[in-house]
Amino acid sequence: MELHDELGQNLTVLKLQLRSIQKTLPPDQSHLQGKCEGANRYVDQIIENVRRISQELCPTCIEDLGLDESIAMLVEDFALHSKLIVSIETQKIDSLFTLQQRTMIYRIFQEALNNIQKHALARKVWIKIERKKKAVDIQIADDGKGFVRDRNAEENVVKAGLGLTAMEERARMLGGTIEVFSIVGIGCRLAFNIPITAGERNDEFLSYSFG
Ligand SMILES: Nc1ncnc2c1ncn2[C@@H]1O[C@H](COP(=O)(O)OP(=O)(O)OP(=O)(O)O)[C@@H](O)[C@H]1O
Ligand SMILES: [Mg+2]
Repeated sequence: MELHDELGQNLTVLKLQLRSIQKTLPPDQSHLQGKCEGANRYVDQIIENVRRISQELCPTCIEDLGLDESIAMLVEDFALHSKLIVSIETQKIDSLFTLQQRTMIYRIFQEALNNIQKHALARKVWIKIERKKKAVDIQIADDGKGFVRDRNAEENVVKAGLGLTAMEERARMLGGTIEVFSIVGIGCRLAFNIPITAGERNDEFLSYSFG
């Protein structure tokens, strides 16, 4: 969190300083203008990397905070940075899974939200975590540009990146399934069904929204 908040803040100040140097340059110094722009883009990359690294460290906090709280923090951070409207409706699921399973579920959320930020051009995101009798249903939907995922089709094909494949692999390792529903121009919805193998029942509903 410190890495994210403090270093992120410092880098933003550095960006502002670079910009003010750039403003004082005479217009004929195009070479230096270009260098300043290059440096600015580089700082953007560092800011993104710090965010990514602090996210990757977070699974260690699943142990302390639990999965429910960790997902809530991830979603809140996502809403803040993406400026998307995010609504989430959840039931507590932390006690249903082992630490390893919880980490996998957390990673699924990370990748789904990363994809929305990277590709979707969405305005709204809906997240639902539902505790059923024998399984947990998770839905992550956006109203973005959507995509066609047909490895054989000629047009509109998206190359299968690591993210979707990793999500499928994690769903499989959890003994569950993932379904991708997407319509070009309408959005995308990921639906996970993860069987509960152990744990206790807790039906409490939590509902909140950001943005
Ligand atoms: N929510 C989404 N909205 C629109 N397009 C999406 C969405 N999620 C995935 N895609 C499309 O599916 C492709 C594959 O996604 P995937 O996560 O597998 O790879 P990636 O994000 O491109 O790269 P990586 O995850 O390996 O960094 C993306 O390149 C993108 O075109
Ligand atoms: Mg991805």
